[in-house]
Amino acid sequence: MRIEGAVALVTGASSGIGEATAARLASAGAQVLVHGRDESRTAAVAERIGGTPLVADLSLPRAGEKLAEAAGRVDLLVNNAGLGWAGPAAELSGDELATLVAVNLTAPIALTNALLPQFLARGSGSLVFVCSIAGRLGVAGEAAYAGTKAGLDVFAESLRLELSGTGIRVGVLVPGVVQTAFFDRRNRPYQRGRPKPLPVGAAADALLRLVLDDRAEQHVPRWLRVPIAVRGSVPGVYRYLGARFGG
Ligand SMILES: NC(=O)c1ccc[n+]([C@@H]2O[C@H](COP(=O)([O-])OP(=O)(O)OC[C@H]3O[C@@H](n4cnc5c(N)ncnc54)[C@H](OP(=O)(O)O)[C@@H]3O)[C@@H](O)[C@H]2O)c1
Repeated sequence: MRIEGAVALVTGASSGIGEATAARLASAGAQVLVHGRDESRTAAVAERIGGTPLVADLSLPRAGEKLAEAAGRVDLLVNNAGLGWAGPAAELSGDELATLVAVNLTAPIALTNALLPQFLARGSGSLVFVCSIAGRLGVAGEAAYAGTKAGLDVFAESLRLELSGTGIRVGVLVPGVVQTAFFDRRNRPYQRGRPKPLPVGAAADALLRLVLDDRAEQHVPRWLRVPIAVRGSVPGVYRYLGARFGG
């Protein structure tokens, strides 16, 4: 896809991976719609990169549809906004679950579906989904979060099949651990020694590669393909290792 001159809507661009991606897209000549929930952070990023701020809380009913309406024309959609939750599954409250599902799954699906008619009418455009290694492998203590990411991942895969031959590209970014506010914002910081968190720029670079090369998926770091392949081909071995060394 050609980025120069394209209108790119990046959700969750007020922080972390979204902010770094929005900055790279603006530098590459895109007209960036900077979405965020926090008004001042969103405005600050938009001003810094020369984009247009769009503020919306994606946990609210019909937020995806409303954001699509506010955005207008979009050539590249980066569904990146999201939040985590970690802890024993039984301690996740109903309200926390509703927010997690709304922001990580319902809103990106609704936003994508609402923008699809204009993509189909033009026979072009690119849809990107920021998923997670948690949704590919499962992670102990992050079951509900991993479930939302797996849901988004398979939504994207299904959409890719549905849109084959239309000229619309669908790509999935599968990050491992990236150094952002994500861990401080959820209820538990990142405590493992390995893998070491990647700088946010590495995730944004991978996302741009995904778009520029029209790839179906991009792992960051790339070696994440190995445990995913092991789980897919020898699930018994994968589960044994997961139980022994921690999932
Ligand atoms: N960091 C990692 O290790 C990692 C790994 C795998 C996948 N991911 C995924 O990467 C994506 C970006 O996360 P990040 O690491 O960059 O985290 P981050 O720095 O916390 O950024 C999260 C973004 O999502 C937005 N957001 C959160 N709740 C929202 C809501 N209710 N309505 C609208 N926007 C909301 C935030 O907006 P405000 O700041 O304006 O509130 C922020 O812009 C997420 O989907 C996450 O699941 C992250």
